[in-house]
Amino acid sequence: MTSNPRKVLIGSILLVVTFVSVSYTLVTPKYKNIFGAEISSFTHDIVNGEKVFYASGCNSCHLDSDKSKPPLLLAGGLPLTTNFGTFYSPNISPDKENGIGKWGINEFANAVRNGISPNGSHYFPSFPYNSYQKMADQDLIDLFHFIMSLKPSGKVNKPHALNFPFSFRISLGIWKHLYFYPNKMISNTPTRGEYLVETLAHCAECHTPRTRLGGLNMEKHLSGAKTLKNEGGAPNITPHETGIKNWTELDVFNYLETGFTPDFDSAGGQMVSVISNLAKLPKEDLEEIAKYIKSVKPIASN
Ligand code: HEC
Ligand code: HEC
Repeated sequence: MTSNPRKVLIGSILLVVTFVSVSYTLVTPKYKNIFGAEISSFTHDIVNGEKVFYASGCNSCHLDSDKSKPPLLLAGGLPLTTNFGTFYSPNISPDKENGIGKWGINEFANAVRNGISPNGSHYFPSFPYNSYQKMADQDLIDLFHFIMSLKPSGKVNKPHALNFPFSFRISLGIWKHLYFYPNKMISNTPTRGEYLVETLAHCAECHTPRTRLGGLNMEKHLSGAKTLKNEGGAPNITPHETGIKNWTELDVFNYLETGFTPDFDSAGGQMVSVISNLAKLPKEDLEEIAKYIKSVKPIASN
């Protein structure tokens, strides 16, 4: 049987159209209003917002690169060097022109939980929204009001200096399909320790190894990673022999509270700012983090 050329042509066109539209749907960001009218039923608590802010380490990346003295100024401009190039953190102070002062809760929620900007493009995962995706509604609302209560800065954002072809935001749609949506490590009903470690404090962003495309390799969750730039890296913090099996829960707690290991070494590198942020949390939160860390699956260092 010979096939009808017209049918073949129509079939091919349909295939191409389907392919293009499926690809387009896969890569385009899905900005949606996360909060509707029910937002008016929420109250907000700036004191809790401040705790969420420090637990999540927003200041570690968004502080003003020109001055770190009080008052807390989220003017950004800090360079984050990676294998993909250098990212400069944006101004997230409540300035109406150059910060996020015009944003409402939905713009904020889409950015922090989904990595989608108000104009509908993807953010780079150097902004750890992958971890923040399960941030609780109330925490997100409190965090928003805390940030909006800070001093505005008119500092203009510095463009990222990324290597070709990573500068194309649309390709992040594919990245998100590979690494963002299937984040199965975070359960829907986490304990306090799990919520702090996996969501707010994003420990995995430094302690879990990454794939070549910069996604977290969840099979090796928390088992230690070289940083993307291969500088030093973060050690294995699972209870494996090659990790922190010999540390008691109290050892982990003490380390998070004081920065001293059981051998009286002191914490260095990027862990220093994590520890100074965690110092703003109640002791019970640090105990919960220690309890959870000692309960994760033991995995050998790679
Ligand atoms: C590890 C560094 C890092 C941490 C931690 C971090 N961010 Fe960011 N953030 C970035 C980078 C880099 C970008 C720019 C991403 C891009 O251009 O795609 C960004 C972008 C943003 C934006 C978008 C700003 C704009 O003008 O579009 C917001 C809002 C934001 N971050 C808020 C937060 C909040 C709130 C926290 C804490 C819960 C936080 N960030 C923690 C690095 C970080
Ligand atoms: C911004 C990156 C980063 C984040 C986020 C981070 N860490 Fe670390 N962590 C490090 C680095 C780097 C070291 C190594 C410190 C050193 O060299 O002294 C470290 C060391 C540690 C150690 C000591 C392990 C050892 O064998 O000495 C523990 C325990 C630890 N981190 C737990 C955590 C926990 C729990 C979290 C989340 C609450 C966390 N870290 C978040 C980068 C990070």
